[in-house]
Amino acid sequence: MEEANRHPFLKGLSKHRGAPPTAIVIFGASGDLTSRKLIPAIYNLAVDHLLSADFFLMGYGRKPIPEKEYREHALTSVDSHSRRPLASDIWDRLEQQIFYQSGGYDDPEAYTALADRLDALEKKVGRDLQLLFYISTPPQVFGAILENLGRSGLARRNLDSPLFSKVIVEKPFGKDLATAQRLNQVILQQFEERQVYRIDHYLGKETVQDLLVHRFANAIFEPIWNRQYVDCVQITVAESLGVGTRGGYYDQSGALRDMIQNHTMQLLSLIAMEPPVSLDPEAIRDEKVKVLQAVQPLTLDSENADVVRARYDAGLIGGSPVSGYLEGEGIPDDSTTETYAALRLSINNWRWKGVPFYMRSGKRMARRVSEIAIQFKRPPGILFSGDARFDLAPNTMVLRIQPDEGSTLLLNAKVPGLETRTQPVKMHFHYETTFGSNTPEAYERLILDSMVGDNTLFIRGDETEASWRLITPILDHWQDCGPTGLESYAAGSWGPLASERLLWKNAHQWRRPGF
Ligand SMILES: NC(=O)c1ccc[n+]([C@@H]2O[C@H](COP(=O)([O-])OP(=O)(O)OC[C@H]3O[C@@H](n4cnc5c(N)ncnc54)[C@H](OP(=O)(O)O)[C@@H]3O)[C@@H](O)[C@H]2O)c1
Repeated sequence: MEEANRHPFLKGLSKHRGAPPTAIVIFGASGDLTSRKLIPAIYNLAVDHLLSADFFLMGYGRKPIPEKEYREHALTSVDSHSRRPLASDIWDRLEQQIFYQSGGYDDPEAYTALADRLDALEKKVGRDLQLLFYISTPPQVFGAILENLGRSGLARRNLDSPLFSKVIVEKPFGKDLATAQRLNQVILQQFEERQVYRIDHYLGKETVQDLLVHRFANAIFEPIWNRQYVDCVQITVAESLGVGTRGGYYDQSGALRDMIQNHTMQLLSLIAMEPPVSLDPEAIRDEKVKVLQAVQPLTLDSENADVVRARYDAGLIGGSPVSGYLEGEGIPDDSTTETYAALRLSINNWRWKGVPFYMRSGKRMARRVSEIAIQFKRPPGILFSGDARFDLAPNTMVLRIQPDEGSTLLLNAKVPGLETRTQPVKMHFHYETTFGSNTPEAYERLILDSMVGDNTLFIRGDETEASWRLITPILDHWQDCGPTGLESYAAGSWGPLASERLLWKNAHQWRRPGF
C-alpha cells in the first residue's frame, strides 16, 4: 500500500481510488467528443463510485443552452454511448451535479462569470474544489481559452495546495514542430507543466498500458528485447473506415499527422524505451523522450527510401464497393493528402542499433487493427532447414492493441506424425477470455488520472516536440513534392506496393495482421 502511494502508476493499478472534490469544466460541451466519450466516461466513473461527493461538471460553450436542456443532452449521451446501461439512482444524483455556462472562448468577461459560478459552487459545498479544465474544442480556440484561463486567475487557483487547477488539452497538439512549440509556450505562460495533461486517448487503452507490464513484469522478455535477438519491429494502426463526413478536417491533416505523429509514436516509445528507474510518471516519460530522441532523421528522397505515402482509390470493404478518397465529401480535386503512411525508422542506441522499426497507418485498409509485432531472428539453419518438410516462420510476439485485445506468440512446432515435419503455431492470450469484456474506456481512465493528479498516461511537452521533430521534415518534404511520389492503393487492401518495397530492402515483409 505504501508503495502504491509513492508511485501514481501503481496507484492506478489498484482498483479503488477516488478523485478529490473536483469541478470539471468542459470547453466545447455541446461537441461530438463530449457527448460520445466524456460524459459517458464521467457517468461510468460515477457508477464505480470513483467521483467525489463534491464532483461537478460545468459544460461551457458559445451556444446559450438552458441548464435543463443540457442535462437532457447529457442523459441522451449516456443512454446512447455508455458501455453500461443507465442506472437511474446513479443518474438522478449525477444530473444534479451538472451545470452549463455559456460564453465566448475569447471573451474575458465570460471567464469572470465562469469564475463567479465556480466560486458559488465552492461556497455551496463549503470547501475548495480542484478545477479541471478540459479543452475539447477545435484547435483554433485552444490559445484563446488558455489565455483567458490565465487572465482570469482560474489557471493558478490553489496552486500551493494539492487541489491546484489542471488543464487537459485535446489533440491535435499543433500541426508541425513550430505550432506545437508555440502551443507549448502559450500553455506554459499560463500553467506549470505539472498542471498540464496533453491527451492521446491511445494511452488510456488497457492494452497500451499493458505494454509496460508485459515488458517489465515478466523476466523472460527483457533479455531478448534488443538487437541481439530482434530482427525487426512492425507497428500497424489500420482502419477500415474512410474519412466519412470529416473530409474537410481530414484533408488538412492526413495519416502522418492524424495517426503516426501521436498514436503510433506513443506505441514506438513504449515498446522501445529503456526500463524506467521507477514507475514514477516522470521516470517513465523521461525514457519515452530519450528513445524518441535516438530515432535517426529519415532519408527523404524521390525513391521513397524511408517513407511512403499513398491515397486510397475505390475498392471493396467487406465485399461492398466503396469510393476513392477524392470522391469523398469535402475533398478538393487537387488534394495531395495521404490516407496511408509507412515509415522505416532506425533507433541509434545501444539496444536497437541496426533493428528496423516499421510503422504504417492508413484508412480504408483491409481491416481495423492495431498491433505491434516483434519479429525475432531465425535460429541458425543447421537442423531444420533445406527441406520442404520444414515450414518455419520467424518467432514473433504480437501485442494486439485492438480489436481482439491480447497477445500471440508465434512458434514452430512438430506436426504430429511418424516423420518430422514442422509448422508455425500460435500461443494466444485473449483479454476478454481471461478478464471479461467490460473493461473501462480510455477516457474513463484518463479523466480519473487527471483528477487524481497522475500524468503518466499523458504526453509531456518535450515528448510531443520530440515526435514533431521527426515528423515535420517529412511533411515539409511532401509539401515540396506536391503530387510526385504520392502512391495509390485499392480500398480494402493492405496499402501500396511501394510500402512492401520499403521492407524488401531489409529482406522483410509486412505481416498480415490478425493472423
Ligand atoms: N470527436 C472525436 O471523436 C475526437 C477524437 C479525438 C480527439 N478529438 C479532439 O477533441 C476536440 C473536440 O472534438 P469534437 O469532435 O467534439 O469537436 P466539435 O464537435 O467540432 O466541436 C466542439 C465544440 O466546439 C465549439 N466549436 C466548434 N467549432 C468551433 C469554432 N470554429 N470556433 C469555436 N468553437 C467551435 C462548438 O461548441 P459551441 O458552438 O457551443 O461553442 C462545438 O460543439 C478537437 O480538438 C478534436 O480534434 C475529437
